[in-house]
Amino acid sequence: MKLDKINSLIQELLQENSFLQAILSSPRDRILSQKITIRPFSIKNNWRLQFSHQQNQKVIHKNYSVEEGTEKILEALKHYKQALFCTVSKDYQILISKKGEATIIHKPASKKATPLLNHNRSKNYLLKENEPIPFLQELGVSSNLGKVLPGKRDKFCQINRFLEMVQDIVPYFAKDKTLQIVDFGCGKAYLTFALYYYLHFQLKYKVQITGLDLKADVVAQCQNLAKKLGFTHLHFIQGDINAYMGNEPIDLMVSLHACDTATDAALEKAVRWQAQVIMVVPCCQHELYKQVQCESLEPLLSHGILKERFSALVTEAARAKLLEILGYKTQVIEFIDMEHTPKNLLIRAIRQSSSETRHAELLKQYYQFKKTLEIKPFLEKCFIQELIS
Ligand SMILES: C[S@@+](CC[C@H](N)C(=O)[O-])C[C@H]1O[C@@H](n2cnc3c(N)ncnc32)[C@H](O)[C@@H]1O
Repeated sequence: MKLDKINSLIQELLQENSFLQAILSSPRDRILSQKITIRPFSIKNNWRLQFSHQQNQKVIHKNYSVEEGTEKILEALKHYKQALFCTVSKDYQILISKKGEATIIHKPASKKATPLLNHNRSKNYLLKENEPIPFLQELGVSSNLGKVLPGKRDKFCQINRFLEMVQDIVPYFAKDKTLQIVDFGCGKAYLTFALYYYLHFQLKYKVQITGLDLKADVVAQCQNLAKKLGFTHLHFIQGDINAYMGNEPIDLMVSLHACDTATDAALEKAVRWQAQVIMVVPCCQHELYKQVQCESLEPLLSHGILKERFSALVTEAARAKLLEILGYKTQVIEFIDMEHTPKNLLIRAIRQSSSETRHAELLKQYYQFKKTLEIKPFLEKCFIQELIS
């Protein structure tokens, strides 16, 4: 197919309700950017295209109307050897020869549709778009007028998704007391600030939130920002989760994307404190990858990538079951991840009154599971006494 003939195909691919992303790569000239990424976004329900490319270590964004953007893409295709268009139903890989001949390869959809595509959903965000929210401005997520900044749409969605999950657990908290909350591995604390803003300013709860992280510089920045914003009951501390000796009792422990077994250390603390609610989004689950074995799962475990993903799921399943044994009602829910990696599961656990019968049944299920896969997770080792039936 000649390049000028793919005009209508490109227009079709850029349809508002199905287009997710395009990447132009392998430039014909060295002076061109290695890659141009095109993503859809909407402003006041107007569909637009954002082009991003790297220039001198910086990412440059330019926004266009769909018409202008389509023209830019068609022009750019003359200078790139490859393009990948991701839509809700399919991916289209376009290979362009020196003579300007285009070959189109159809592939299964590799990207998942995001809330970006859903206008109705964006209207229901707990943090409203186009409303100035100081902490979002300070963190570089939105402008002074409350407009989500280019490239920060995914972060904005992630923050809102997190708050929706918090909204579900709010009924478990008494309103007449100060809620003690800890965020383990808070990093730059987008979600910690959001949690404070939502619970304290929007829902009028009295809260005391502590963000803990290993990185001293990040912690200092967060502490300064909390002071600047007047978030007087939000504090940041530098330290290791394993060594943290905080004030009990804790009502809510969150630990989002803390690395590998740091999540287990956070879970151990929370369970020992008998925290009412626990929310963790695990990350880099390497521990069980080295342990998991099962002869009858050889077709799965003999491929590194499949074993890695399977081990990550096994880690979450084991954590969820152990939390049930330890007295929590546990859910595993999908959490938005901006990169749509498999690191998008959130474990939400709510403390229950214990039941002897249920405990025995849960223990049996757990031991069968661990025996089948020959695993001994970190969290199990933390609660060896409690797991003796
Ligand atoms: C990927 S970041 C996540 C930041 C934030 N929670 C979020 O989801 O946006 C993980 C953070 O966990 C911190 N971390 C990892 N292990 C830790 C440990 N043992 N104690 C304290 N912080 C830890 C890292 O320093 C890093 O800032």
